[in-house]
Amino acid sequence: MTVPPHIRFEKVDLGAIADRKGCVAVFLGEDGKMDQTARRVNRLTRGALKRMVESDGFAEMKQGQVSELAWPAGMAADALLVVRLDRRPGAEDARAAGASIAKSRRTAPLLVLAGNRKHAADLSLGIILRGYDFTDHKSKDAPEPGEITMMVSDPKAMTAAAAQVAAVADGVFLTRDLTNEPANVLTTGEFARRLSEMKASGLKVEVLEEAKLKALGMNALLGVGQGSESPSKVVIMQWNGGPKKQKPLALVGKGVVFDTGGISIKPSAGMEEMTMDMGGAGVVAGVMRTLAARRARANVVGLVGLVENMPDGRAQRPGDVVKSMKGDTVEVINTDAEGRLVLADVLWYAQDRFDPAGVIDLATLTGAIIIGLGHEKAGVFSNDDALCGALLKAAGKEGEGAWRMPLGAAYDKLLKSRIADMKNVGGRAAGSVTAAQFLQRFIREGVPWVHIDIAGVASVSSETALAPKGATGWGVRTLDRLIRDMLES
Ligand code: BES
Ligand code: MN
Ligand code: ZN
Repeated sequence: MTVPPHIRFEKVDLGAIADRKGCVAVFLGEDGKMDQTARRVNRLTRGALKRMVESDGFAEMKQGQVSELAWPAGMAADALLVVRLDRRPGAEDARAAGASIAKSRRTAPLLVLAGNRKHAADLSLGIILRGYDFTDHKSKDAPEPGEITMMVSDPKAMTAAAAQVAAVADGVFLTRDLTNEPANVLTTGEFARRLSEMKASGLKVEVLEEAKLKALGMNALLGVGQGSESPSKVVIMQWNGGPKKQKPLALVGKGVVFDTGGISIKPSAGMEEMTMDMGGAGVVAGVMRTLAARRARANVVGLVGLVENMPDGRAQRPGDVVKSMKGDTVEVINTDAEGRLVLADVLWYAQDRFDPAGVIDLATLTGAIIIGLGHEKAGVFSNDDALCGALLKAAGKEGEGAWRMPLGAAYDKLLKSRIADMKNVGGRAAGSVTAAQFLQRFIREGVPWVHIDIAGVASVSSETALAPKGATGWGVRTLDRLIRDMLES
């Protein structure tokens, strides 16, 4: 488990700056404006900052960018991190500055001279999120990171904001850990166990085992997992921090702990990436964790379908017909289109049991969304302009890429089956849209619903603004923001 670092806030003390070891981060505003701590650093270094401001290089520095001065004369620090950041930066620039600082400091102790910066919270979030490193399976002990301190004018005023930041970081780190974890470690059982541990934070957590799923009629989900040695499970996490009468928002996640494709087996090159095919469930878990950590004043239920898609003598075959919990039958043309089969039953169960005010599902559902949107933006599909608009707005605020895609009857027609109510694939064309259309068949009339295809953004092979290579935790901040803005204000 990767635990986010605790950041200590202390009152600005100009006299203490010279003696601090490790890295010291100092800010230069527009036109090289210096606050009192920067002026102090400039004096200690006998005008190094001023010379930097007057250099050609300074004009080219982007918001949030760091220029590193090693072994600064007049200071005990090993490095001075000079950060270009306006006095009143946007949230995204402040987070980017934090991320640059985290990258430069690596594991050295860090002092951030934040002064009276309004964006100290965003700055600290950037530092924490970009500082994530998944080292659980490195046998050599990673160096223990040094302490992070921020000098601010009013440390007390930071307490509340810092707690919110810590709650978000807890959720994002949980999602990243789950998504990075290999499939021999994160089996369906281990996944359910980790979610059950969250009871300690005040969440109500239930695990539905195969016998129960069978009794509920979740044959679409069970068919996917029937070739695996790991039993299929559905885990339900409830956070009821809102008014009693408020209908909950339901978050539903695809939790395929490994996707070989099943009998429609995937090519071996790159198959190891399918260890992240539970990324949707990972985001749902992360959001629930954040909501509990910050005692959110909202009612939210998170449901995840945990299965493993394996080829086996007992595995589901192409051509099999399964009856979903809803009652509709599905002809399984391709066993690799398994996520939608899992979600179909969990979506239906969520509506049946909780009568939610809205449903948002997240899934690493299609390779086609990567062809369409790459690794920059998640694909968003919805039957409700208001909920979808709110989600896109939240994603915009958090700087997480999201792009709305179409739905429509012409796409839905592609799912017609000769022998069953529908088939599970619609052909190569518009693969992400027909996948979404399939899901929509399991959404009740009048229920606002958003489907987010995160196949391109859940885990990436190069670093992003706030994450190193690997799992990003995309969506935890967007959904947390949506819940704040839509249900709590
Ligand atoms: N888990 C995959 C989608 C995926 C691909 C996620 C790449 C992350 C990265 C999904 O289960 C799948 O295999 N989808 C198929 C659907 C097809 C058989 C209709 C795909 O995208 O090829
Ligand atoms: Mn698949
Ligand atoms: Zn899959």
